Amino acid sequence: MKILFLNGPNLNLLGTREPDKYGTQTLKDIEIFIKEEAKKHNIEVEFYQSNIEGELVNKIQEAKNIFDGIVMNPAAYTHTSVAIRDAILAVSIPTVEIHISNIHTREEFRKTSLTAPACIGQITGFGINSYKLGLIAISDHLKSL
Ligand code: DQA
Repeated sequence: MKILFLNGPNLNLLGTREPDKYGTQTLKDIEIFIKEEAKKHNIEVEFYQSNIEGELVNKIQEAKNIFDGIVMNPAAYTHTSVAIRDAILAVSIPTVEIHISNIHTREEFRKTSLTAPACIGQITGFGINSYKLGLIAISDHLKSL
């Protein structure tokens, strides 16, 4: 099983970015943690991060026939990106949306996700554990198919 972890804008700054909301672990720390977890279950994981919407769309398109599932934290593009939503729908790769913070308890504009309706479901508010829960959710889903 091969899973793509897609990370949107500003997640490259995790560790120093608003640590009260996003914690002090870097994206590299999360990648190491997730790869250790994945290895235990014989799952292959690739991490990808971009600040550019079109690069995330390209990566989703390229994932077809390579990855079995996607776990994505679209970050700010969650609330704006029809293009990422359409890309997920276009490739038909089962996808789980994750967020470190709980987007439903923050500003009004964060409560809407344009990307979540293209996904199996959404995990939000569990800190970096949202990444681990995303891995469990996508692998259990794929196993049930
Ligand atoms: C985020 C929540 C988004 O609203 C925000 O724009 C982010 C991070 C999260 O993981 O909590 O960049 O996706």
